[in-house]
Amino acid sequence: MHLERLTGVLGARLVDVDLRSLDEARVQELRAAICAHEVLVVPGQDLSPGDQTDFSHLMGPYSPVPFVQPVDGHPEVIRVVKEATESEAFNFGGVWHSDFSFLPAPPAFTVLHAIEVPDVGGDTVWASMTAAHDALDDATRERLDTVTAIHSASASYSPAQQGLHSQLSGMDIRTSDDALETERHPLLCTHPETGRRSLYFNGTYVRALEGPGFESEEGPNGEAAMMSWLHDWTTHIRFTFRHRWSAGDVVIWDNRSTQHVALNDYGGQRREMTRTTVAGSAPAA
Ligand code: SIN
Repeated sequence: MHLERLTGVLGARLVDVDLRSLDEARVQELRAAICAHEVLVVPGQDLSPGDQTDFSHLMGPYSPVPFVQPVDGHPEVIRVVKEATESEAFNFGGVWHSDFSFLPAPPAFTVLHAIEVPDVGGDTVWASMTAAHDALDDATRERLDTVTAIHSASASYSPAQQGLHSQLSGMDIRTSDDALETERHPLLCTHPETGRRSLYFNGTYVRALEGPGFESEEGPNGEAAMMSWLHDWTTHIRFTFRHRWSAGDVVIWDNRSTQHVALNDYGGQRREMTRTTVAGSAPAA
C-alpha cells in the first residue's frame, strides 16, 4: 500500500487503489492506515451511492444518521450539497465538530466522496485530538482526566435551528426535540484500536463539563473559560491538516480522534459530496 504523509501531524494520501475492489487484507491495511494517520485521502474514485455503501460496510456496520434524510434509494448515504445560488446559506459541517459525538456510540469513521467541487474554496480542515492530547502539560492532562463532557445536538438540530437548515435546498434536514438529549463521554479517551489517548472535545456538541472545579460557570478557571480554552487548544493550527478537494476524492477520517470543519468560502459555486458513516463504540477513558 503506497502511503504518502501529508503533514507531520495527521493526514496521508493513498494512491493506485480502487475502493470498489479491495480484498480483506487490503481492508485491514486501510483501516490501520486510517487509525494511524487519522485522515486518509484516496483520489480518483468513482463511487455510486451503492458502491460507497458497499465500501463503508467493509469498514464496519452502518452508523445511523440522525436528522439528515438520506439519498433516495440509498438509506445509508447522505448528500452534502450547497447550490451556487446559496452563497448566503449556512454550510453543513461549517463549525468545528466530530460527527455525531452526541450519540451513545458515535461513528468511528466517516467516508466523504467529492462529486462536484468549487474551482476555488470549499476545503475541509481536520484537527488531530491525539496531537492536542499529547501536547498537554502533565498538570493539565491530570486535571482534564477527571472531566466528563456533556454532548448534545441542541445547538445544531433543535427546532430553533430549522430555519438555518432549510436554507439548503439540496438537503432535507429535519430538526427535532430529540436534539435536546444529552450524552456523557470522558474528555480524555483511549482509542479502541490504537490505544492512543485523545482529547475528545468539540465546541459544537460539547455543551457542558462535569468535574472538580466546574461548580461555577464563571471565573478564569470556570466551565465557560475551560470550554473556550478547549476549543482554542484542540483546533490550534499546529494540530491541523487542510484538504483541497478534487472531484473523485474520497476522504475517510477517524471521528474518534479528530474534529473537522468545512470552509464556507466558495460563494457562487456548487459543492456536492456524498457521505456515509461507520459505526463506532462508546468512547472510553
Ligand atoms: C461534514 O461535516 O460531514 C461535511 C464536511 C465537508 O463537507 O467538508
